Amino acid sequence: MSEITEKKRIFSGVQPSGKLTLGNYLGAIRNFETLQDAYECLYCVVDLHAITVRQNPAELRRQTLEVLAQYLACGLDPQKSTLFIQSHVPAHAELAWILNCYTMFGELSRMTQFKDKSAKHADNVNAGLFDYPVLMASDILLYQTDLVPVGSDQLQHIELTRNVAQRFNGVYSDTFTMPEPYIAKTGARIMSLQDPMRKMSKSDENANSFILLMDKPEDIMRKFKRAITDSEGTIRRGEGKEGISNLIAIYGLATGRTAEEVEAEFAGQGYAAFKPAVGEAVVELLRPIREKTEDLLKNKDYLEQVYTEGAQRASYMARKTLDKVYRKVGFIKR
Ligand code: TYM
Repeated sequence: MSEITEKKRIFSGVQPSGKLTLGNYLGAIRNFETLQDAYECLYCVVDLHAITVRQNPAELRRQTLEVLAQYLACGLDPQKSTLFIQSHVPAHAELAWILNCYTMFGELSRMTQFKDKSAKHADNVNAGLFDYPVLMASDILLYQTDLVPVGSDQLQHIELTRNVAQRFNGVYSDTFTMPEPYIAKTGARIMSLQDPMRKMSKSDENANSFILLMDKPEDIMRKFKRAITDSEGTIRRGEGKEGISNLIAIYGLATGRTAEEVEAEFAGQGYAAFKPAVGEAVVELLRPIREKTEDLLKNKDYLEQVYTEGAQRASYMARKTLDKVYRKVGFIKR
């Protein structure tokens, strides 16, 4: 075990607030898998975060298991990484309360995700939605995390986490490790297939704008054929070509090619050839993930074993940090 504890630590999480998209996979989960040998990794299904917008309880339970199954189907190995469900480790909520008292109202008001989500759910701008980044900071700081692999939309939350850690460390002496974001060069922001100026998001009303990991091949093909591009007709990246640039990035990631290689491969060809090629590459990329997820969802006992063992390991690590924090702020030992 001593070899394991010398490794740097990674924490990341995904919300079970809907079906996972190709954006979640290419921006985050794919990197979780490649990092799990070199780091000590904790990957969480963040159900506490999901209820900041209304969820159907039965659906939330189903989605939580589906995200866990997808973690496994994407190659996360419970022998190497700690896979668990956030609400199973109460220390996340406990640390969040403490860190609330070290996070400023003004800081939280500036969060773009809060602004976006409160505009989108104007009838339910609850305190949890506002406080969301503090819970995320707690997730990260609880495990003395060195590195946080995420898509670029989460960068602002990681900067806030660093500010809160620095503030707490400044008052009480070194308590939290200062986490760094890990954002891949390509794939950090996969765009909507219908509006390439916006990120691909599972909460988009237009189902043609996103690819779900569980989408059937015919749906994937249809969505790529309908993807919004431009009228120029050449397969290259550039200003005003955000749609094609996005498809080039997706095709490159799905086939292990650089953007330059993709442009060279399709030089002289039109969108009628390129769009179905992207569709087929993504079908093949996602096929094993979908099939494996379907199999795993039939084996609830195995999923339960994974999340139970994961929560035990995570709780042990989390407790160490929480005890230290309680002592530093002046709480009496139980
Ligand atoms: P969530 O559930 O929205 O997304 C999970 C991960 O997927 C990335 N992502 C994308 N990457 C590229 N292109 C896209 N279109 C795209 N859409 C989503 C996200 O950046 C994220 O990495 N707040 C987080 C969950 C969270 C968390 C944490 C993450 C809670 N606690 C602690 C890291 C550490 C979120 O809402 O992710």
